[in-house]
Amino acid sequence: MPEPRLIVITRPDAAALAAEAAAGLLQPAAAVSPKFLYDALGSRLFDAITELDEYYPTRTEATIFAAHGAAIADAVLAATGPGPVLVDLGAGDGAKAARLFPRLAPRRYVAVDISAGYLRAALQRLAREHPGIEMLGVALDFAAGLQLPEGVVDGPALVFYPGSSIGNFAPEAARTLLADMRRASRGGAVLLGVDLVKPAPRLQVAYDDALGVTAAFNLNVLRRLNALLGADFQPRQWRHVALVDAAAARVEMHLQAREPLVVRWPGHERAFAAGERIHTENAHKWTLPGFAALLAEAGCEQMRHWTDAAGDFALFVAR
Ligand code: AVI
Repeated sequence: MPEPRLIVITRPDAAALAAEAAAGLLQPAAAVSPKFLYDALGSRLFDAITELDEYYPTRTEATIFAAHGAAIADAVLAATGPGPVLVDLGAGDGAKAARLFPRLAPRRYVAVDISAGYLRAALQRLAREHPGIEMLGVALDFAAGLQLPEGVVDGPALVFYPGSSIGNFAPEAARTLLADMRRASRGGAVLLGVDLVKPAPRLQVAYDDALGVTAAFNLNVLRRLNALLGADFQPRQWRHVALVDAAAARVEMHLQAREPLVVRWPGHERAFAAGERIHTENAHKWTLPGFAALLAEAGCEQMRHWTDAAGDFALFVAR
């Protein structure tokens, strides 16, 4: 069995990450990147979120693949030709992409994720299960630019970005990432999961569930910041807040101070008034025409899209 090759582009540079987090905390309106949600515990909490009744996107995306998998694969292969390279953005354990292997028969699987440790374990398992597919990992924070190393994509590729993670980018940044994805596909295709606009009450509970799993996922950022900065955040002094901005078609996640407090870390401190917030994530929702227009602005030609019966979620194939 060939060993998976792993290309490490960026090792998470703790000093740079700490500087980025500190700069965000010291802004007048404190904000930190959503990437700080995903340490080992955060990734497990996100997996738990996907099991919640209130959190429909993961389940709904799976039903669309189950209902239309053959048509989706046909649309992809019409653009890429047989045996494409499959580039999986935010691959995690690679499980979603692996479900495409039987229909797409990729000759190479390129898992791109910010976490190199996670990638190695996932690729070794996938290499055992799919010995005919070359496995490659690229550890990269593609939110900062999707530049794959020379030779990784050496023919038409499918660039796969499921789960509606595109919604965690503001529209302008999403357009840039889509253009990067199109370039990375080298004349192949892109396949994206997109969460669609829906009434505020459903979004509200999807991002603030009864069991408090999303609250734990968000509050875990404080543990991460303590570890990264040597800060003294006390999670009990903070509450999770999910705000639906219907006009902007997005859900915002914040951490809100329950009382006046001061957070200290070496060389710095930041006072928070009661009710003051740290913005941790945006989740933008799209209409079908809105996302089609975004694809066009990114230079992508939309081929087809599929939705579930209720119109909650969509999969788009474009080239
Ligand atoms: C990863 N991403 C698509 C999730 C979302 O729905 O925006 C992250 C998440 N945040 C809160 N719940 C889930």
